Amino acid sequence: MLDKYINYDNNKLKVESSSVNSLVKKYGSPLYIYSKNKIIESFSHYKKAFGRNDHLICYAVKANSNIAILQTLAKEGSGFDIVSYGELLRVLKAGGEPSKVIFSGVGKSSFEIEAALKAGIHCFNIESIPEMHRVSRIAEKLNTVANVSFRINPNIDAKSHPYISTGMKENKFGIAYELAIEIYQTAAKDKNLNILGIDCHIGSQITEISPFIDSLNKMLELIEKLQSLGIKIKHLDLGGGIGVKYNNEVTISIDSYVEQVIEKTKHLGLKIILEPGRSIVANAGILASRVEYTKETKDKNFCIIDAGMNDLLRPSIYNAYHEVISIEKNINNNERVYDIVGPICETGDFLAKDRKISVNKGDILAILSSGAYGFTMSSNYNSRPMAAEVIIDDGAEYLVKKRQTHEELFANESLLDK
Ligand code: LLP
Repeated sequence: MLDKYINYDNNKLKVESSSVNSLVKKYGSPLYIYSKNKIIESFSHYKKAFGRNDHLICYAVKANSNIAILQTLAKEGSGFDIVSYGELLRVLKAGGEPSKVIFSGVGKSSFEIEAALKAGIHCFNIESIPEMHRVSRIAEKLNTVANVSFRINPNIDAKSHPYISTGMKENKFGIAYELAIEIYQTAAKDKNLNILGIDCHIGSQITEISPFIDSLNKMLELIEKLQSLGIKIKHLDLGGGIGVKYNNEVTISIDSYVEQVIEKTKHLGLKIILEPGRSIVANAGILASRVEYTKETKDKNFCIIDAGMNDLLRPSIYNAYHEVISIEKNINNNERVYDIVGPICETGDFLAKDRKISVNKGDILAILSSGAYGFTMSSNYNSRPMAAEVIIDDGAEYLVKKRQTHEELFANESLLDK
């Protein structure tokens, strides 16, 4: 989606005040380009919505884990939602405060739990009974007490893509709603665990507010029940999931969501934690890519670009829509309908289907809304080096990830000695 940070200026696409054309000339293609000020604006939107109400925004690192982006958010006061030791290391490297880190995910290893305890994170979002026991044992071994919250599965349909809906009972995530009270009672008796909160995360790219409110109501019921049993809950973490505009979606207003959360929870004196990822970075980034060839046939026209599903996987696996535009606003009107595809040897390697666009070999296209789950889901499939990443800040350009070299592709491999 275009906005004041990523838009045409005199028919040339710019990210803040930098021309995409000159960035690609300088850093090559494909190239991820992010607007730092858009990231800050999106983060600040959450902060402002909460105002003086007790809260912590824990940016979901998986959406975009570039350490320069984490550093930008850490400076704005963000906390972080991590799901691996790798993400913890990134946060620490970026200057994030361990005391604002929460650790989510269904498969935390013993090594990861130990490292997070030693780093002094805010809490673990526990997703199963065996995980609770594992955290307790490791805390005991380290002679410490682990802060925990339990991720409860509220069995709510987030009405999003099935691969990114997480809050229904058939999904692998969280602890069944019916078991919640029992697990809290067990944890309350465990001297190695300190119960801090309760959490849920029902999915991603959610564009209707009702699933959020339904799960909030279910969480509130649990909190009240727990309090009546003498189990004190200090924070309520509602996860991430707010949908963004990729095309013509009408999505949730952050202001009205936060307002309803505050309204419904204020009598409980809770700290509210959110874990937004996509809504902070998706529309702060584009993937610029050069047209290698066009191929017009009787049945179909293909525009073959130098970015593929290894660079941006979302269209291939979720059939996700990303707007694709030319970086020169088309003045001539020789538009045709193209499938915009990558060089990878898979029919599923497409970035966009049936788009009316005017293109020629050598043109540069911008795949919009690529800041979230873009580079973080990229791979070396077909032995293609990973793209470079640039951050723009008021005209200053920072190369925040060098393009991988071809030699690096197999640098960790070795030949057999015979
Ligand atoms: N918290 C937890 C526990 C999560 O699992 C996620 C995302 C988030 C927060 C952040 O959700 P967000 O605000 O970004 O919606 N690869 C998919 C999205 C997968 C989301 C996984 N979990 C995509 O490209 O659409």
